[in-house]
Amino acid sequence: MKAPWALLDAQKNLVAANEAFLSFFNIKAPLGNIKDLFEEFPQSYGFFKLRSKKGSPIETIISPYPDDLILILLKSASREAKEEFQMEKLAAMGNLAGHIAHEINNPLGAILLYANLLKEDLPSEGLQADYVDKIIKLATRCRIIAKALLNVGRREPGSIEPLDLNRLIINMFSLVEGHRLFKEIDIVWELEKTLPLIHGNRSQLEQLVLNLITNAAEALEGKGRIIVRTAYLSPEDTVIFEVEDNGPGIPPEIRPRIFEPFFTTKSGGKGTGLGLAICYGIVKRHQGEIQVESRPGCTVFRVKLPRVILNYE
Ligand SMILES: Nc1ncnc2c1ncn2[C@@H]1O[C@H](COP(=O)(O)OP(=O)(O)OP(=O)(O)O)[C@@H](O)[C@H]1O
Ligand SMILES: [Mg+2]
Repeated sequence: MKAPWALLDAQKNLVAANEAFLSFFNIKAPLGNIKDLFEEFPQSYGFFKLRSKKGSPIETIISPYPDDLILILLKSASREAKEEFQMEKLAAMGNLAGHIAHEINNPLGAILLYANLLKEDLPSEGLQADYVDKIIKLATRCRIIAKALLNVGRREPGSIEPLDLNRLIINMFSLVEGHRLFKEIDIVWELEKTLPLIHGNRSQLEQLVLNLITNAAEALEGKGRIIVRTAYLSPEDTVIFEVEDNGPGIPPEIRPRIFEPFFTTKSGGKGTGLGLAICYGIVKRHQGEIQVESRPGCTVFRVKLPRVILNYE
């Protein structure tokens, strides 16, 4: 989708605009004046963050144009459009993944059942017993992946209860800190003391925390520093949860793909590539957002969760 743009005359009347601009502001003829679209419109050229009458701040470039016209280009709107596209793509992938998982889950259960029955009838030693053990092991692995995929594709957050996110994070961490992956990692806690309770699904939020801290520790290859942060944004009534690591960072070329199911850079069966796809699904089901900022030496995953899930039955 092209970036939304419009041309204004000296009186700030819209004289031309592209389709993206018109649909962004939902304009039908006549085009009208820029003052109808923005709370305030600057008198100078440059780069501005403007508040539209729709409410959201928009990064905007205002520049001179031939014939005494003014070009206005909505930067973040085009980025939003891209993100929207990306989100729809992820949602579609998640649905497909969930559907496939659902279809293979039952036959897999049957394979495991029959393999276990076969095992009972076989002598416990020997080649055949080894083969059956392999079938059971591999089918079990498929089952774990199928279950994880179901988590990617699910639509509802499941049972919702009031949760103390700080406590949930600390409890989750106490389960993994004994693991050798975390042995030489310093954990810095920056938890907001007066964090309000939030509405959420306990096991899904635990999974979210686990996946993000595991990724951070894996990126650090066992050595480094992880900062775990929480905060409360009262104007938005939103809780923030951040995991920051000082690892190598996410290369820009792979950045757009990290939330896709099965995207991994971890070779040798170390990663399935489902961790972040699951996180994405969980956050969306909680009507939240997940963002990442990364450069070498600093990667931050930021999760925003509304304190209360609206319209949820
Ligand atoms: N903190 C991080 N620093 C650097 N790269 C990261 C970080 N978190 C995620 N990534 C990148 O994103 C990819 C996808 O992450 P994701 O958690 O979805 O899968 P995975 O960790 O590879 O496998 P799985 O989570 O299924 O074990 C990773 O393979 C890695 O390349
Ligand atoms: Mg992972």
